[in-house]
Amino acid sequence: DYPNLAPTPPMGWNNWSYYQCGGLNEQVVLDNARALVRSGLAHKGYRTVTVDDCWMTKERGPQGELVADTAKFPHGMAYVGAQLHRMGLKFGIYEDVGKLTCGKYPGSLGHFEADAKLFASWGVDYLKADGCNVPVPSGQSKEKIFHDLYTQQSRALRATGRPITFSISAPAYFQFAGDAVWHRVITWSGQLGNLWRGGADIALQQSTPAAKWASISGNFRYNANLADLQRPGRWNDPDFLLVGDSGLSRDEMQSQMSLWAMMAAPLISSTDLGKLSPAALAILGNREVIAVDQDPLGVQGHIVQQDGDAAVLSKPLRNGDRAVALFNGGSTARTLSITAGAAGLPAAQSYRLRDLVTGRSVRTARTIIARKVPPHATVLYRVRPER
Ligand code: GLA
Repeated sequence: DYPNLAPTPPMGWNNWSYYQCGGLNEQVVLDNARALVRSGLAHKGYRTVTVDDCWMTKERGPQGELVADTAKFPHGMAYVGAQLHRMGLKFGIYEDVGKLTCGKYPGSLGHFEADAKLFASWGVDYLKADGCNVPVPSGQSKEKIFHDLYTQQSRALRATGRPITFSISAPAYFQFAGDAVWHRVITWSGQLGNLWRGGADIALQQSTPAAKWASISGNFRYNANLADLQRPGRWNDPDFLLVGDSGLSRDEMQSQMSLWAMMAAPLISSTDLGKLSPAALAILGNREVIAVDQDPLGVQGHIVQQDGDAAVLSKPLRNGDRAVALFNGGSTARTLSITAGAAGLPAAQSYRLRDLVTGRSVRTARTIIARKVPPHATVLYRVRPER
């Protein structure tokens, strides 16, 4: 297996869903990096700053090397890496295993070793390798070709000798190829890298509020069903946190954060961190919710009860507690309840339920109840059995 460089789910920031190609430049990246530090989010674990697609020129240089677009990155990429490292952050970059990236910039196909060496020389700590524009000759297996290219990428990263966390996009290109193939691609992605994108892109910043919520709940749905394919150190990635974006209510932002934490998902913010509201900052920075995500047991929570738009998830934690989330995906308030046994808790005299958002604790004998979960809201408890 690829080295275990992400014993807990990666955390950080990426420009893509907020800034995309047009808004990407050195200042945006370094301003958001400074905001991570200033806001205290870096201290809480959000440390990997990833420059997504469109950072380079449309053609390789005279030696076949990738070239940073100096209109966007006037000091080059090594400078960006050095600035991030000076701030105590890590440097992530985007490439693609095909001929071209999704934005039609040069892909790494045929250049894996040289590109990986270049990244290592720039101080890159994290690579997101996309799978757009992979040529699949007719009659050949798309899965085999993807497997071969991601194997080459994985080996090239290892050969640099630099620890580079490897994020693989392959499964996203097989989401609708049938569960057998999709799950197989996820399984080998977990051998070649540390995390993988399982499915659709989360909504872009300019999407409608309804589209943003639909993409959060859609990505939650597919990703929750992949829980059995996760192992400690090998993470399903349901894409960016939109917390802070316009168009999401406080309950919706909180739901995404709580559900992502329950799924031990990478916590990668994509928004303008300089403009975070106090509410959004409190959601992203909630230490107890982050601790559920980052719990050292490293297990993705499972859906233990489902009823239409509502779901209850349960995640075991290393100290013997369980995180239990009651999610109301519907558009009217409803009462959700589950017994301790159904939530996977051992028999006990009583249970202490700590609401990780309000910080309030209650004691209960048997049944965990959240009265009237508002529409699109999630109640997240840390539950401790008591003798
Ligand atoms: C794909 C990925 C996105 C982003 C873009 C860049 O769509 O899924 O996260 O990296 O490519 O072009």
